[in-house]
Amino acid sequence: MSTNRRGFLKSTATTMAGIGITQSMPGSLLVYPGVLNAGDRIVVALIGSRNMGWYNLTDLLQQPNVVCKTLCDVDDSVLAEKAGELVKQGLNKPQLEKDYRKVLDDKDIDAVIIGTPDHWHCLPTVEACAAGKHVYVEKPLANSIGEINVMLDVARKYKNIVQVGQQQRSGAHWKTAIEFVQSGKLGTIRQVKYWANFNYGAGNMPVPDSDPPVGVDYDRWLGPAPKRTFNKNRFHGSWRMFRDYGGGLMSDWGVHLIDMGLWAMNVKTGPKSVFSLGGNFANQDRALEMPDTLTVGYEMDGFNMIWEHNGGVQHGPYDQLYGVKFIGTNGTLVADRARWRVFPEWGEEDYRMESVEEHLSDEKSHINHCANFIGAIRHGDTLNADIEIGHRAALYAHLGNISFWADERVEYDEGTRSIPNSKKADALITPTYRLPWIFPSSS
Ligand SMILES: NC(=O)c1ccc[n+]([C@@H]2O[C@H](COP(=O)([O-])OP(=O)(O)OC[C@H]3O[C@@H](n4cnc5c(N)ncnc54)[C@H](O)[C@@H]3O)[C@@H](O)[C@H]2O)c1
Repeated sequence: MSTNRRGFLKSTATTMAGIGITQSMPGSLLVYPGVLNAGDRIVVALIGSRNMGWYNLTDLLQQPNVVCKTLCDVDDSVLAEKAGELVKQGLNKPQLEKDYRKVLDDKDIDAVIIGTPDHWHCLPTVEACAAGKHVYVEKPLANSIGEINVMLDVARKYKNIVQVGQQQRSGAHWKTAIEFVQSGKLGTIRQVKYWANFNYGAGNMPVPDSDPPVGVDYDRWLGPAPKRTFNKNRFHGSWRMFRDYGGGLMSDWGVHLIDMGLWAMNVKTGPKSVFSLGGNFANQDRALEMPDTLTVGYEMDGFNMIWEHNGGVQHGPYDQLYGVKFIGTNGTLVADRARWRVFPEWGEEDYRMESVEEHLSDEKSHINHCANFIGAIRHGDTLNADIEIGHRAALYAHLGNISFWADERVEYDEGTRSIPNSKKADALITPTYRLPWIFPSSS
């Protein structure tokens, strides 16, 4: 927040508090009960308001002196429902917008939450950074490697605070799990394995194309993605199984879990090479563009990383639908969002390490993540999932998908941001944007 803006907010807040305003005033900043006298307010807007974006807003509004001025969505029914929720909570009715660019033009707004589908993360983030806003953008950082590269460059150029929605970075039990892995007690870690088995990864049963629902600006929902007739399966909530908008389980869960492995193993670069195997083996009757079955091998320095997903299956190792495990010579640490456990190895004589108590989650990772974002804006706290962290996790996830689609082992060169060993894979790095949307530039 600039000094001018801070001063402006302070004087506006004081004036409003002085005259006891607690209701919305057209054309003015919104005023919420109980937040007027304890310092400057941070004014946020939400772009993409239906599900995760809304959850983010809800937890951001729990932070002191955070107010919501605007909700933006391309669906009138989402706007109406969420505005109603805010009012029900005793907050003022927000301004409603369908065009995110109007939100970015609003000088009152300090920070935006971007809760749109993955194909709509890049442009709003880049433009928000250029407009001097701080950004909480959902994961995966974007739907392609080309987009995440530009986002990272632009955020660094304008020095914005950009938190990526990889909230596990703010989870207390994840932090202790990572510390345990890094303590060396597991011995030499030779493999990090991830798995994600969920029914939704099998897609829905097909339904015919139809008109978009009344009140939806469908062309704007598609945005830079190719034009096509509306289909309910490719819309709210289930778009992730279609390549134009998302990356399936590989990027949806991949970024969360692979991020934990990269964090624990202190990896700051891309993989040496990536090789994927899979297909849609069990769900050909479904509306699904993604492989329901995928195994990805990441060649790393001194250890292997393996990703595996099975859409339509709800069981997994250790009775967990999803998880990460670190296989060491002395023991294996297994973690998910609920807990982490260690399974000691044994030799001829005895166990190779002492037993370790199970660590349970306090279930505060998301609210902590929101508090960390506000702490970064207000006090300069270090972000737990800065854009560079989101960029790295997304790079790994997208390389997994690219290797699958190109059907080749891929070697990504971070210097040239290309895949020199495969023309087919290299062509998948950057999407073609549909006019009038223009692929943004780094400069
Ligand atoms: N961090 C997590 O644990 C977590 C969990 C779920 C989803 N997510 C991420 O959150 C994002 C949103 O997922 P979701 O499940 O909320 O999707 P969703 O389909 O439920 O909601 C997306 C909303 O964005 C709106 N939208 C689309 N284009 C828009 C535009 N140009 N301008 C404004 N609004 C637009 C849609 O109308 C919809 O209301 C995705 O990137 C997803 O990966 C993260």
